[in-house]
Amino acid sequence: MESRDNSVETKKRKIESFIDNETTKAAKNNLSSSTGSSSSESDEEEIIPPPKIVRQKLLGEGGYGSVWLCLFSNKQFALKEPKENSQYKIAAMEKEKRILSYVNQQHDHLPKTDPHREKIIEMFPIDGLCKYQLALEYLPRGSLYTCIRKNKKYLTDVASIKILTDVAYALDFLANIQIVHLDLKSDNILLTTEGNAKLADFGFADYAYEELTDILGTLRWRAPEIGVEQATHKADIYSLGMVAWELKTLTLPYVSFEFKSKEERRAFFKLVQGGFREIIPSDCEPKYAALITRCWEQNPKQRPAAEEVVKVLGDIKSLRI
Ligand SMILES: Nc1ncnc2c1ncn2[C@@H]1O[C@H](COP(=O)(O)OP(=O)(O)O)[C@@H](O)[C@H]1O
Ligand SMILES: [Mg+2]
Repeated sequence: MESRDNSVETKKRKIESFIDNETTKAAKNNLSSSTGSSSSESDEEEIIPPPKIVRQKLLGEGGYGSVWLCLFSNKQFALKEPKENSQYKIAAMEKEKRILSYVNQQHDHLPKTDPHREKIIEMFPIDGLCKYQLALEYLPRGSLYTCIRKNKKYLTDVASIKILTDVAYALDFLANIQIVHLDLKSDNILLTTEGNAKLADFGFADYAYEELTDILGTLRWRAPEIGVEQATHKADIYSLGMVAWELKTLTLPYVSFEFKSKEERRAFFKLVQGGFREIIPSDCEPKYAALITRCWEQNPKQRPAAEEVVKVLGDIKSLRI
């Protein structure tokens, strides 16, 4: 027990020192860009203005951010920034940037052949961005949520299992680096043109050692323990079960609930906390149905770890779900 606490402490120190380094780097960058022109002037060199970011179109919006397709030096990328000029949303985006930067940095340590690679959205350093703007790799096929509604033809059983496996790998990687996502849902899974999936939107993600007792995540996908007890990686596994259900049914979870008022939301979440779950269709492949049921276990400890989800999906990848 003691050695486990030590290892959490070590990880915590590692993450904190990473953040300190990043903050120092950012401060230095700001400094060099603000003093850069004066040193060039004194050397009488020609000042070449940085390439401009050109916005092309709005790719999507969530609760916090607007995401724009942009061009920079003839390269496309997705620019995520707060939807509104609210201090709360700006702070949230700054935090998302710090966490994604840490996640990407850890990801870069993975060996080239590691199956956990490329399962998480990548962020680029681009000069001239504010600290609450994120430059992300652009995924032209957009979110799984949109694909379920507009491009069902891509979602064959094999493609669905591939998407879930990619996300399970992403969750396993996050568990290994002590990060919980806490907002896993089809809107936050992005698809590549090759049919691979990447986990995006780290707006609610946090370090697993923090006291994660806030109400987080999106109601339809939210694990019952969220806001009640310390949320762990198993909260993400619950949401993964809901994504598996979405891929079987190609519908919105709990579609008949509208959640127009706070009271309705509270009453619904109470039901989930009492064990209420979506109905798994009777024609569902039994192993797939069993996996969903296990992901939805009330007791987080009884839910499978991401690593086990990957194995189970491997067993059923050639079956009709
Ligand atoms: N890198 C990207 N490439 C293409 N579309 C994206 C990208 N990032 C986000 N989107 C689109 O924008 C939507 C909102 O982005 P998201 O990061 O989830 O914002 P929020 O934190 O507000 O939920 C996504 O559901 C998706 O449709
Ligand atoms: Mg989102």
